[in-house]
Amino acid sequence: MPSLNDIRSTFLDFFVRNGHRQVASSPLVPRNDPTLMFANSGMVQFKNLFTGLETRDYVRATTAQKCVRAGGKHNDLDNVGYTARHHTFFEMLGNFSFGDYFKSDAIPFAWELLTRDFAIPKDKLLVTVYHTDDEAADLWKKVAGLPDERIIRIASDDNFWRMGPTGPCGPCTEIFYDHGDHIFGGPPGSADEDGDRFIEIWNLVFMQNEQHADGTMTPLPKQSIDTGMGLERIGALLQGKHDNYDTDLMRSLIEASAHATSSDPDGPGKVHHRVIADHLRSTSFLIADGVMPSNEGRGYVLRRIMRRAMRHAHMLGAQDPVMHKLVPALVRQMGTAYPELGRAQASIEETLRSEETRFRQTLDRGLKLLADEVARLPEGGALPGAAAFKLYDTYGFPLDLTQDALREQGRSVDTAGFDSAMAEQKAKARAAWTGTGESKDAAIWFALADTHGATEFLGYDTEVAEGEVLALIDGADQIEAAALGAKVQIVVNQTPFYAESGGQVGDQGLIKTETGSARVTDTRRMQGVVVHDAEVTLGEIRRGQGATLSVDHDRRSAIRANHSATHLLNEALRGHLGAHVSQKGSLNAEDRLRFDFSHTKAVSPDELSVIEAEVNALIRQNEAVETRVMSPDDARALGAQAQFGEKYGDEVRVVSMGRAAGSARGTDGETYSIELCGGTHVSRTGDIGAFVILGDSASSAGVRRIEALTGETALAHLRSSGQRLGEIAGLLKTPTVDVVERVRALADERKALANEVASLKRQLAMGGGGAEDAPKDIGGIRLIARRVEGVSGRELAPLVDELKQRLGSGAVLILSEAGGKAAVAAGVTPDLTDRLSAVDLVRTAAEALGGKGGGGRPEMAQGGAPSLEAADAAIGAVEALIAG
Ligand code: SER
Repeated sequence: MPSLNDIRSTFLDFFVRNGHRQVASSPLVPRNDPTLMFANSGMVQFKNLFTGLETRDYVRATTAQKCVRAGGKHNDLDNVGYTARHHTFFEMLGNFSFGDYFKSDAIPFAWELLTRDFAIPKDKLLVTVYHTDDEAADLWKKVAGLPDERIIRIASDDNFWRMGPTGPCGPCTEIFYDHGDHIFGGPPGSADEDGDRFIEIWNLVFMQNEQHADGTMTPLPKQSIDTGMGLERIGALLQGKHDNYDTDLMRSLIEASAHATSSDPDGPGKVHHRVIADHLRSTSFLIADGVMPSNEGRGYVLRRIMRRAMRHAHMLGAQDPVMHKLVPALVRQMGTAYPELGRAQASIEETLRSEETRFRQTLDRGLKLLADEVARLPEGGALPGAAAFKLYDTYGFPLDLTQDALREQGRSVDTAGFDSAMAEQKAKARAAWTGTGESKDAAIWFALADTHGATEFLGYDTEVAEGEVLALIDGADQIEAAALGAKVQIVVNQTPFYAESGGQVGDQGLIKTETGSARVTDTRRMQGVVVHDAEVTLGEIRRGQGATLSVDHDRRSAIRANHSATHLLNEALRGHLGAHVSQKGSLNAEDRLRFDFSHTKAVSPDELSVIEAEVNALIRQNEAVETRVMSPDDARALGAQAQFGEKYGDEVRVVSMGRAAGSARGTDGETYSIELCGGTHVSRTGDIGAFVILGDSASSAGVRRIEALTGETALAHLRSSGQRLGEIAGLLKTPTVDVVERVRALADERKALANEVASLKRQLAMGGGGAEDAPKDIGGIRLIARRVEGVSGRELAPLVDELKQRLGSGAVLILSEAGGKAAVAAGVTPDLTDRLSAVDLVRTAAEALGGKGGGGRPEMAQGGAPSLEAADAAIGAVEALIAG
């Protein structure tokens, strides 16, 4: 009996043998579709190849595609566990031709694989074709020799396949397997077609048209092929089972569930095991593709599936978390075909364990409340919406979990009541907000959040994604179209643009639609709605259009590097300065990072260089940066650093990076930095490139600020510093290594020269004993009056002293000028101070010079003056004063 793994390989090998390129499954979160929640068929990743927008180096492909149908348009969640063929996760096997072969090859390929490689008896097969497709009917007759009654013409859309409201489409032919008349059911198109006898196993779509939003349909540039076959169905068939859950792969997961809960796989808990096996696959694959449980968008679909499985595990009597224990069984089964599963195993297990641990805290009480509410209901009565809302809001019960729990009792939920309870809560939140009077414009964001919900952020995993333009806002008004040059705010349903938060600046980039493009200058989040501030730079942007959103890659890369380096810096500071260091603010922009932290002293240059070196050593480690989502309590238990002033909800993102070299930092002792953070980060620390601290300064009392650079900016800074050093060395005519010594020597030399100049000036001022030196006798008092240049006021006192000594008895007056300033100093020898005061001499001179004032003692006084223009008059005035 072939295993599901064998069957998958047989399919892929067959088409590879027939000239097809084997292409890996695309991730479950589609990057190239604005409206699709999850990949739900094999052709999703090839959409643009069919429409001719994109070409690749192959024209035939074959894939096994991971698909999830839960949430969004295709939602099989409600039926899983209760039916033979519903799954939230399944694999679609497919072969594709992009303008290469068409019907006349696709049909023989399918027939050969089914009847030869899979050895399905021909008489068990029948097909449907679109009612006008004679060509396909003729081919089936010719290739397979099917009689007319086994080529059924179907007029409905069942045989015209569309990807969605827009996109490639075309008539299809479906291949059915007849399980035999012992099972109830009629052939396709008959009244009993929903029975289980005739099961569709393969859909071949003849892609030939493109459906446009305005309702028109145009031919594709080239006719193409897209086929899809559910692996679980064909597996059941080839393994002789009627139920997909009896295939080897699903059975091994059911047995793992039975083992983990010590219960009988086929006993009364059978449905629970089936739900668990299915949900284990969807949740694990979603987590492996980067979806994390949250309360909105894809994250909430994941949470709903997880919690639904967890209730079923609880029903089996499990006392402890179960789901994470089943992951190894899944990796054993599917890890070879999907290596991403093995790579993400640790993160899948931890996410499941943490979610289940948390949900169990409210599950029991929620179930008790549910039982109490139900006990009050009449036979078959629906649960009131308010009760379902309380379970949702207080106990974390997704609505479908409550519905699933009631289903077993044949009861339903008043969903209209649930919706109005939800609307009431939102209205209260809005009232509370507008009550703060913060912003009148807030109303528009509330309205958008009410209508469309929070914008889903895809930017942790991708920088390019498609979204749908939900609103264009000009001031406080919504508009239908924004013309060239208009500055508007654009809201889409999902975006890779990071909205400014936690110190990380908002992204910039481009939004493009069929009719125009807009440059995004900033991104913000308002009431959960991501707002792109943009200017239309080409054509016009219209509401309702599909748009390609591309984040400016270089800028985002630089921001990522700065943000990750900030985490490393935070930890390095704590390690070297002490555990009191805590974050007080940060900025992660494209050109630099800034980190404010509590610390009372300046960080010394030595400390800074040790810290800088440590961060660079962690960069060179080049370890992967890990992101996990967990409860705030779990994060605290891990020793995660929380950021100042941030509010945390039910779950937090925890970003870990670096190996702690023999240090006990981080309570797990191995990880260097563990921080709560919603920002975007590098994949590996090596992506930071380099880290250079610009300096430390005081930010406010008790808070220091470090500014630093990373990557190319850091290198450019080092380069220009090096260039400047080179220039200095050139000027000094010395090798760069000797620059410091040389500058120190120059500084010493300069000081010595300055001293020498001062002393020379003094000597000069004292004169060389010329005629001018001779004292003048004025009525018995000898006066030396002198005018000097280049000697500042500060240097005058010693000169006055020296001249007084030379005189023995008499008076001294010096008028000086230096650096544009004039000064006056005077001295009187002690024997004359009872007759004459130096202060009077200074004041008299200063006044004659156009100034006033001056002060000191009778023996020695000083003052200032505007200039020495009237020097002779000043000397004359002093002589007159002495003469009495
Ligand atoms: N796209 C088609 C389907 O999903 C065939 O792959 O059925």
